[in-house]
Amino acid sequence: MPLLDVQDLTIEYGTARGAVTALDEVSLQVEAGEFLGIVGESGCGKSTLLFGVAQLLSPPAAVTGGSVRFDGRELVGASVRDLNALRWSRISVVMQSAMNALSPVKTVGSQYRDVLRAHRYDGDWPSRSREVLELVGVDPVHLSSYPHQLSGGMRQRAMIAMALLFTPDLILMDEPTSALDVVAQRSLMVQIKELQRELGFAVVFVTHDMSLVSHFSDRLVVMYGGQIAETGPTRAVFDTPRHPYSAGLLDAFPSIRGSRVRLTGIPGAPPDLASPPPGCRFAPRCPSSSDICAEGRPPLYRIDPVQVRCVLHAPKEVSA
Ligand SMILES: Nc1ncnc2c1ncn2[C@@H]1O[C@H](COP(=O)(O)OP(=O)(O)OP(=O)(O)O)[C@@H](O)[C@H]1O
Ligand SMILES: [Mg+2]
Repeated sequence: MPLLDVQDLTIEYGTARGAVTALDEVSLQVEAGEFLGIVGESGCGKSTLLFGVAQLLSPPAAVTGGSVRFDGRELVGASVRDLNALRWSRISVVMQSAMNALSPVKTVGSQYRDVLRAHRYDGDWPSRSREVLELVGVDPVHLSSYPHQLSGGMRQRAMIAMALLFTPDLILMDEPTSALDVVAQRSLMVQIKELQRELGFAVVFVTHDMSLVSHFSDRLVVMYGGQIAETGPTRAVFDTPRHPYSAGLLDAFPSIRGSRVRLTGIPGAPPDLASPPPGCRFAPRCPSSSDICAEGRPPLYRIDPVQVRCVLHAPKEVSA
């Protein structure tokens, strides 16, 4: 049984223009101790997916279909009490904006204390707080700092440290290193990986940065327009991106050591999710599209070891 099993999760935002389906039947599994990367352009539904998994959505967002099972327990529709019992202690979330996630009127230390107290931590909370800050490379003197007294990168580290207070089984991270320079980003990622190896938690990691996921994630989910475009072992997707969108994303990223090639990128813009194109959502921007792409919504085809939502990979029909 996977640690996290998301099946056909569908999430809508109610807007003045009608319902926007920001997440459309997304299924994924995370095994204990695994590192899953989620990539895709801005607005493709990455944060919505994490919020849905953690059941932290609030109106106008709502889960309109599917299920999220954590360690065998259904989280969709679970009581606030049950969810609160899991949060921080077994599942923790590092939000996209660390500034908004930390309270501006409390010191870092008192926020850690609140979390530890709420979950009846029976150890020595000041020393646990110092320990986790040290783990992520922040001087524990900052336990008495307010979030605005820290740099953006330190706030992100303080959030990651808070997520580690109870050594959860699953940490959901939404662009947790975006405020760091490239060198600090690498070193924090290496630290996260080491902690993961040592403590055994699973990570779901959302980022725009293809080079980060290529180095750190075991498996990859490439999202486009609220759906999974391609998913599989990270190496397999990087070596042979099968979905034209995955190929475009990889082409848009410079290779530091490889030969100098012109970056092609992906022309056009992501679909308006209030009225997505019929058929394949990527078809209007796809260099390989044909008439058939506008006809029906392609399913995820299984081509071991990956799954890909593109008719180019539909199994060939055997003629009689
Ligand atoms: N409160 C809201 N009301 C209506 N639509 C929303 C709301 N929040 C998000 N959306 C829509 O849901 C879609 C997915 O948003 P989401 O924040 O999950 O994207 P993302 O992949 O995390 O993007 P980014 O990389 O910029 O963080 C977007 O198209 C966005 O317009
Ligand atoms: Mg986001």
